[in-house]
Amino acid sequence: MTQVKPKTFSIAVIPGDGIGREVVPAAISVLQRLGEKFGIGFDFLQLDWGSDYYFQHGSMMPADGLDGLRSSDAILLGAIGHPKIQDNITLNGLLLPIRRVFDQFVNVRPAILFPGVESPLAHVKPGGIDMVVVRENTEGEYAQVGGFVHHFDPKEVAVQTSVFTRPGVERVIRFAFELAVKRNGKKRVASITKSNAQAFGMVLWDRVFEEVKSQFPQIETESLLVDAATIHMLKRPESFDVVVASNLFGDILSDLSAAITGSIGLAPSANLDPLRRAPSMFEPVHGSAPDIAGQGKANPLATFFSAAMMLEHLGAGDAAQALDGAVRNLLREKKVRTPDLGGISSTQDITDAIVAAIVHG
Ligand code: NAD
Ligand code: IPM
Ligand code: MN
Repeated sequence: MTQVKPKTFSIAVIPGDGIGREVVPAAISVLQRLGEKFGIGFDFLQLDWGSDYYFQHGSMMPADGLDGLRSSDAILLGAIGHPKIQDNITLNGLLLPIRRVFDQFVNVRPAILFPGVESPLAHVKPGGIDMVVVRENTEGEYAQVGGFVHHFDPKEVAVQTSVFTRPGVERVIRFAFELAVKRNGKKRVASITKSNAQAFGMVLWDRVFEEVKSQFPQIETESLLVDAATIHMLKRPESFDVVVASNLFGDILSDLSAAITGSIGLAPSANLDPLRRAPSMFEPVHGSAPDIAGQGKANPLATFFSAAMMLEHLGAGDAAQALDGAVRNLLREKKVRTPDLGGISSTQDITDAIVAAIVHG
C-alpha cells in the first residue's frame, strides 16, 4: 500500500513585539497539535523581525525580507509596536509594507458575540452580534503619500494624502458583496464613508458602491456616514452583517466591533490577496499591548481564531473547524479565561486547554 504523504505548508512566522511574542508561540503549539491530528505538516520559518531587530540593525527587517516571504504559503504575525520607537517607524517598517507589497487588498475582521462571552452592551445576547468588517487594506488613508515642508521648524507643514483608486475601491466592495452572498448571514452589506466632508475619494467610493450593489439585487444594503455608523453599531449591532469601509474607517470600526463582542483579545483578522498571487497574512486585530506584555495575561484566542482563518485559506477546512470549535467551546464553558474576559487564567492555561481539547476532541 502506498503511504499518502501529508500535505506540508510553509508558514512564515513573525511574532514581532510585546504580547505578539506570547500569543504566536501559543498558536504554533496549537497548530503543531492540529497538524499531528489531521495529517498536516507545517514548515515554520521563524523570523525575529521587529523592534529588537531594529535596535540591533537599525531596520525592522532585512532589506530583502519581503522577497524571502514570497514563497511561503501564508504568514502568521503577532503584533508590532514598541513604546521606545515612533509607531510609524515600526509599522511602516514591517507590517504595512507586507500588506501593500503583497497586495493583500482585503482585511477580513469577523466580530461574533460568542455564547459564554458578555458584551458591554446590556441589551445584546450571545449570538446577537455576527458581523464581519471588510477593510480596504492597501490604499485610502494609508497610502503613505505626503511629506513635510520646513521639517521641525515652527512653520512646519505636513501633508498626508488619501488615495482612492476606482479599481482599488471596486475590488474590495465586490469582495464584500461576494462574502455576503457566501455567508450564512443576514445578506446585508453596509458601506461606511464620510462623503459629506471628504468630497473626492469618499464620493468615488459611494458611487462605486451604488454601481456594484446593482449587480447584487439579492443583498440588502445601506450607506452610512462613519460618525453615525458608530451610533448604529452600538444601538443596533445585530442588524450588521458585512461592513465594508476604507482602510482607516475599517481600522477604527474593527476595534469597536471587537469591543462590543467582548474583547479585542478575541478579534482575528485575515489580510487576503483573494487572487492568491502572494501569501496572505493572518494576525490578531490587537497590538503589542505593552501594558500587559511579559505578564502571561495576554488572551491568545484572537491569534488562534486567526490561525483557524489561515487553515481555512490553505484548504485545511477540517483542522480550521476543529480549532474554531475548540475555542468556541472553551468560551462557552467559562472555566478558563484570561483577565480581559474577567478570568484569572494565563496565556499558557488557555493554550494547554485548547491543546487538550484538540487531542481529546
Ligand atoms: P493594543 O491593541 O496593543 O492594546 C489596547 C488595549 O487592549 C490594551 O489595554 C491591551 O492590554 C489590551 N489588549 C490587547 N490585546 C490583548 C490581548 N490579546 N489580551 C488581553 N488584552 C489585550 O493597542 P495600543 O495600546 O493602541 O497599541 C500598542 C502598540 O501596538 C502600539 O505600538 C501600536 O502602534 C501597536 N499596534 C500594533 C498592531 C499590529 O501589529 N497589528 C495593532 C494595533 C496596535
Ligand atoms: C491594525 C493596526 C494597524 C493598522 C496599525 C498598527 C498600523 O491598528 O492592524 O488594526 O492601523 O492597520
Ligand atoms: Mn487597528
